[in-house]
Amino acid sequence: MTSLTDVWPLFGLRLATPRLELRPIQDENIPAAVKAAESGIHAVGRNPFSTPWTELPAAELGANMARWYWRCRAECTPESWTLLLGIWYEDEFIGCQDIGAKDFATLKTVTTGSWLKQSVQGRGLGKEMRAAVALYAFDWLGAEVAESEAADWNGASLGVSRSLGYELNGTTRKAWGSKAETVQHVRLTPEIFKRPDWQLKVDGHEAAANFLKVT
Ligand SMILES: CC(C)(COP(=O)(O)OP(=O)(O)OC[C@H]1O[C@@H](n2cnc3c(N)ncnc32)[C@H](O)[C@@H]1OP(=O)(O)O)[C@@H](O)C(=O)NCCC(=O)NCCS
Repeated sequence: MTSLTDVWPLFGLRLATPRLELRPIQDENIPAAVKAAESGIHAVGRNPFSTPWTELPAAELGANMARWYWRCRAECTPESWTLLLGIWYEDEFIGCQDIGAKDFATLKTVTTGSWLKQSVQGRGLGKEMRAAVALYAFDWLGAEVAESEAADWNGASLGVSRSLGYELNGTTRKAWGSKAETVQHVRLTPEIFKRPDWQLKVDGHEAAANFLKVT
């Protein structure tokens, strides 16, 4: 019998770190993702995202998250893809780590973004999930560069980047919603990556890589 993973091989991808499991968010996980987001991600008035999705009225948050997950999924092609990986910690959904690329075959560059619900922040989990996607990008997908960005006041995001060896890669001024932000860009290559002392476990890579035409 044909399964959903046969049809959409990205759903078969699983990354595991010592404490976390990362896997593409499926429809049945969306309520847990909404619940985690509703529990709070950041202080009020301190939006850390280029699209201020957490500031939507509560009644719109869930549908907007679902729309984003479906859009990213629907628009995944070898030329332009975003994997929205849910984060499970002690069997609970606690956040999201995304990794994406445009023209990966040529640029070998991925970009990442992430969030954790506030109650589990500051325990090294953000570093562990970013390390997971950096390891997957460099060692499994053959990426040569991993880029990220954060508001210049975002100590936790920039702390994760610093801790993994990212170098600063310039600042730009951007409109995040109606607010002007100074955005710090950061960049990691395999040579400067401060690798964790654990091994990443990966399942379902071959079918996912074939789907994304990553060789
Ligand atoms: C960004 C985020 C994912 C980081 O995850 P986290 O679990 O809180 O961070 P960690 O505990 O893994 O910290 C990693 C490193 O950053 C440092 N750090 C954490 N918070 C920091 C802060 N406020 N200021 C300076 N350094 C900080 C830690 O000391 C650690 O460094 P070390 O390994 O050298 O000790 C999480 O805080 C979050 O979801 N924040 C809200 C959403 C957000 O900002 N997303 C990113 C948008 S760009």
